[in-house]
Amino acid sequence: MFKLENTKKLNSILLGLGLSALLATSLVAKNEMSVDGAVKYPIQEGKYGPYHVTSSAKDYNNGRAATKKEIKAWNLDVRPDGEGLPLYDIEHGKPVMEDGEPKIAQGSVEWGEELYDAQCSMCHGEFGAGGKGYPTLAGGDVKNLHIQRLNPADNPPNPDVAKKTIGSYWPYASTLYWYIQESMPFTAPKTLTNSETYAITAFLLSSNGIKVDGEEMDEEFVLNKENFAKIVMPNVDGFYPEVDTKDPHQGPKNMQKLLSDPTIYGKGTRCMSNCIEKQFGKGKTVEDLLLKIKVDLIPNVNEPLSTERSWKEPVKAVVAGVDPVIAENYATYCSACHSNKAIGAPVIGDSDAWADVLEKGIEEVYTNAINGINAMPPMGTSTLPEDDFKAIIDYIINESK
Ligand code: HEC
Ligand code: HEC
Repeated sequence: MFKLENTKKLNSILLGLGLSALLATSLVAKNEMSVDGAVKYPIQEGKYGPYHVTSSAKDYNNGRAATKKEIKAWNLDVRPDGEGLPLYDIEHGKPVMEDGEPKIAQGSVEWGEELYDAQCSMCHGEFGAGGKGYPTLAGGDVKNLHIQRLNPADNPPNPDVAKKTIGSYWPYASTLYWYIQESMPFTAPKTLTNSETYAITAFLLSSNGIKVDGEEMDEEFVLNKENFAKIVMPNVDGFYPEVDTKDPHQGPKNMQKLLSDPTIYGKGTRCMSNCIEKQFGKGKTVEDLLLKIKVDLIPNVNEPLSTERSWKEPVKAVVAGVDPVIAENYATYCSACHSNKAIGAPVIGDSDAWADVLEKGIEEVYTNAINGINAMPPMGTSTLPEDDFKAIIDYIINESK
């Protein structure tokens, strides 16, 4: 690689060769450093940017247009409108013939079950019931899934069926056909024929209780490209509607419809005034809300290892007479509340506040802090040994004299 420091050396060599004029106009000589030390390259009219930009079009290699065959090889998706679903059975890229006619690709629920039991059930369980560590393919329920997302506190969902499966979650059956065709069985993808894929798709839809034209899919049901279009999945309305519509007014209308439908999006009510009192009770204020958020978060939160944005070695504050381990424990477990007036905790350094606390005697203060008192969580949510915890209290008291 060409190193920037060598520019000067190169310049003097080229000078000797009478080539420096060339270099002076080339990007190398005009490189500049930006504030963060990155190189800037000239673009045009005295402007600079982070990448080298060539001004002569002949430097580009635009390649060639993809051929129809290449596009076909990549264009594999199966769409909700049925585009991409195969009409015929294919073997080695050619339609399979039957009595001189191309054989229509189709498969029954019954055949699908046989295929599924042989090739899929060892991972996905019988009837798609899961339980073997691989995705569960059946058994969810769209209503309970909605409840879980929208108002679990008012109306607990049935946890057995509030899960995302093909039947409860997938908006279109075309995805199922496509997914199986391209990627399953996991260990031997693309080995199923089109008819086998229709059969397994039919079996999985039937295991999910999906109806076609209002009727359950029984064993004899045969799925093919033609009747595929009649499948309506239960969660088809559970996703954002089309907003980028031809008629520019239709998109926002679709969105409004979704947002105002309580069975899909929410209860249709938003708290617009006095929300904290409504949620937490009379007389509660934003401080109560903040405290609740902090208390809720502290035991679970993944604290960043560092919020330091430079690569400086962190300097440990060593204050005379203070054990740095204790000071660090304070910073980790207590400072979020005890260095912050808004929480309502006696703040470190506030001698009056701590004098009040200590009126009841140090032993009671220890006990209160260990067991928790009002908004002070037991042990401040730390899991330190009791002696280390008490040492932090002594440290706070010492800092607050
Ligand atoms: C060796 C184990 C294995 C076998 C056999 C297998 N699968 Fe899968 N299947 C998986 C794994 C693993 C995933 C998850 C893949 C991922 O998320 O990247 C999966 C995902 C799926 C999904 C998507 C589930 C979802 O909700 O996202 C479907 C549908 C599916 N498989 C169908 C089948 C069918 C049909 C067969 C038989 C033709 C089959 N699988 C055979 C392991 C297997
Ligand atoms: C979630 C916030 C929060 C955290 C974290 C927290 N405290 Fe507190 N602490 C409080 C509040 C609020 C009070 C005041 C309680 C009251 O008297 O109403 C308090 C009170 C105390 C008291 C006085 C108890 C008394 O008898 O009045 C001590 C001592 C104390 N905390 C120590 C600690 C130590 C040590 C830690 C860290 C290991 C810690 N706290 C972490 C909120 C917190």
